[in-house]
Amino acid sequence: SAVEFGLDAPYEVEYHDSIDSTNRRGRELAGDGREDIVVLADEQTGGRGRLKREWSSPSGGIWLSLLLRPTMPTTHAPLVTMAAAVATAEAVASTGVEPEIKWPNDVLVDGKKVSGILTEMEGEADRISWLVVGIGINANVDIESLPEDRATSLRELCGDVDRREVVQTLLESMSELVADRDRILSAWRARSGTLGRRVSVETPNGEIVGEAVDVESPGALLVDTADGRERVTVGDCEHLRP
Ligand code: BTN
Repeated sequence: SAVEFGLDAPYEVEYHDSIDSTNRRGRELAGDGREDIVVLADEQTGGRGRLKREWSSPSGGIWLSLLLRPTMPTTHAPLVTMAAAVATAEAVASTGVEPEIKWPNDVLVDGKKVSGILTEMEGEADRISWLVVGIGINANVDIESLPEDRATSLRELCGDVDRREVVQTLLESMSELVADRDRILSAWRARSGTLGRRVSVETPNGEIVGEAVDVESPGALLVDTADGRERVTVGDCEHLRP
């Protein structure tokens, strides 16, 4: 339980020294009818990233998945993922470094990715059945063990951190935001490094280049391009130099 793990967390915690993927385990628990439970691991042997990528998850990181059953339409799921990005940014900030969120939910420090989020979901159009929010934070890991050239770790940025404290901050912030959804977008804006920047977004319908001006519920990015305003709901965003 959370208490055994030394956490006074608002969720039940299931801890693994090593597991294939906390998201895979979260889905399994969803199948068992569970909710409000966090799967936390020191190491993942089959960590999964967005867009079917692998996610390198050596021992020393923070690899967790939160299983929730929020009462909301499936179209609003991006809002929960954005809440997770805000909670993660707050947890990262608590270690003394300055994070920024890159739309929709990467957490960067000095332009390098320190955390990523992968949300999986099941439900009918008007109602989410369950949602597994998987959060990976490169905490006490060597950057040599990370594949992405634009990745960093807390160890690299500020030295090893107390993972218990970071997870505690993250889960508290997450539970507050999920309970008060009207705050999510404004909290996201306050932590965003994307708004006000020139961006290039790779979308299923092609590349969009322009100035990111705002986010709109439930998570679309508004980009002012040479041809007018675009509303982007899915894509890979890159921050361009001003
Ligand atoms: C991304 O591609 O940016 C998302 C990475 C998400 C990784 C986390 S680590 C905990 C959870 N379990 C997984 O297998 N993936 C997510």
